[in-house]
Amino acid sequence: MASVTYAKEGTFLSTTQNIAKITLNRPDALNAFNPELISDLNAALDQAEQDNEIRAVIISGEGKAFSAGADLKAMTELSREEVQNFTKAGQELFRRIESFPKAVIAAINGYCLGGGTELSLACDIRIAASEIKIGLPEVSLGLIPAWGGSQRLPYLIGMSKAREMILTGTLLTSEEALEIGLVSKVVPLDELASTASFLAAKIADNAPIAVAEAKRSLNATRHMTIEEGNALELEIADKLAQTEDLREGITAMREKRKAVFKGK
Ligand code: CAA
Repeated sequence: MASVTYAKEGTFLSTTQNIAKITLNRPDALNAFNPELISDLNAALDQAEQDNEIRAVIISGEGKAFSAGADLKAMTELSREEVQNFTKAGQELFRRIESFPKAVIAAINGYCLGGGTELSLACDIRIAASEIKIGLPEVSLGLIPAWGGSQRLPYLIGMSKAREMILTGTLLTSEEALEIGLVSKVVPLDELASTASFLAAKIADNAPIAVAEAKRSLNATRHMTIEEGNALELEIADKLAQTEDLREGITAMREKRKAVFKGK
């Protein structure tokens, strides 16, 4: 995983190292996505998925960028078929992150453009450092945001603003991104990692099956009617009612102590 680093960390709420910190690590290319970075990020996600201790994932970038998007140099060297495969691989990776069974936080440390923004849109939570620039400049290159950006952005910020962002290719400041709900928090760069860890710790403290199922239910809203969504909620509520964690959560609340969830 040369283009990605993977680390486990504990938090102020847990001595267990239950947070996976994945860092895109091609700083000389502003963490642009080439096929190797896609494969390395998938490998890091495999590690986080298989490790039962891990309850939440933070993705960030090394250097001055979160990610400047698809590697434009690599793309010019690919055949038409290879570009198709590269595009599909990015789409699959971001769909995987969106439906990942653990919460994923994008800690946007710097330039977040094109595919970098699309990566962040697939994450559950986006928080940003105060000096970032974020946007989807693809049309200025003759492309579209084809790693799910044209599909997820309208859903997250509304069609009106999404059209403005995508059709003009304008980059937003962190404050502008906060104002339209594209990110949920803006902090100074030197507080970004601790803020991401704080959010991850809060998530990691919750019942893990409930977190995964809440994610599934939230994801379903894009393609379900309210009746179908309610049916899914019913199915999930029934599944959670069978868990040891629910019994532990209610017992702990009544005994006024912190619940210890096992993911069972
Ligand atoms: N691909 C490959 N290399 C990139 C890159 C990219 N997307 N973005 C930056 N780099 C490289 C630069 O070529 C440069 O490398 P060299 O030193 O070897 O020349 C290095 O990263 C540093 O970049 P700059 O010198 O340009 O840094 P800067 O601070 O002057 O500018 C920037 C930063 C404004 C982000 C500028 O680099 C930029 O505009 N990059 C392109 C961003 C972009 O258009 N992204 C969209 C890609 S398309 C996409 O993602 C499609 C999709 O939906 C799948």
